[in-house]
Amino acid sequence: MTCAFTVNGARVTAAEGEPLIHTLRDRLGHHSVRETCGIGVCGSCTVLLDGRPVSSCLLLAGLVAGQEIVTAEGLADHGGVAVQDAFVEHEAFQCSYCIPAMTVAAHALLTAIPDPDEETVREHLAGNLCRCGTHPRILAAVQAAARRSGPAAALARLGHDPEHAPSPSAPARPVVEAAGLLHVAGQIPLRDGDLLATGVIGADVDLATARRCAEQATANALAQLHVHAGGLGRVRAVRLTVYLVGAPDFSGHAEIGAAASELVIAVLGEHGQHSRSVVGVAGLPRRSPVEVELVAARREV
Ligand code: FES
Ligand code: FES
Repeated sequence: MTCAFTVNGARVTAAEGEPLIHTLRDRLGHHSVRETCGIGVCGSCTVLLDGRPVSSCLLLAGLVAGQEIVTAEGLADHGGVAVQDAFVEHEAFQCSYCIPAMTVAAHALLTAIPDPDEETVREHLAGNLCRCGTHPRILAAVQAAARRSGPAAALARLGHDPEHAPSPSAPARPVVEAAGLLHVAGQIPLRDGDLLATGVIGADVDLATARRCAEQATANALAQLHVHAGGLGRVRAVRLTVYLVGAPDFSGHAEIGAAASELVIAVLGEHGQHSRSVVGVAGLPRRSPVEVELVAARREV
């Protein structure tokens, strides 16, 4: 019996009983997949199976039928460029025998946990052995890739400092965690201590400026979350509430809400999906035109 699956985007077939490592390396020519121990101990044969790192020496082709395999040869086309670049920049290799599988495992880690601490990187790469002992440089490379590609980096690329989180007036707390949810205190569009605008949308503040205000307030909420959750990679968005002060005939609520939502999704990616309300109110602190509240949950990682 034969089965079919994809390898780096190409459909392939194999006998169900063929060892997957032989299909990949010997028959398909993916020489990044290396057989060393053959018993699932060294990690040199690591590939991604539907995004999860697995030892291909332990699997038969029939067990991956209908699924997607990515080897180091296909990593760049599957979002792995940041990891590969970081390994090169940190010279995180000597003989390079272990490195293709190491980059595959590192990419899987950063996909699941975009900004892992050092302990988490050590733990997740413990199953990938390097006989040349380049682990310190590998560790540095993975952390550099995380800084470059994680959600905090995405927030920074969009012009917002993830470490800068304006605090609410005492005695309110910036973030309170309860029943598995992180409730971020309402954020107004402060940047470097000043509001981007004040007044009523549709009278004193035009729609484009109001959208920028919503984005800035949301960025401040994400920064609070980053600081208090130990990294944006550890959370997923749940609920966004946008309060705005509009003129009596103002009807652009959805556009302003969308500006806030778009930033959350741009930063958190698939973990940024959320429900949202936009609420018109008579006034907000410091005559801000907009205030944003964000609720998030800790991710299972
Ligand atoms: S060859 Fe597969 S884990 Fe060592
Ligand atoms: S660089 Fe030689 S085995 Fe890792």
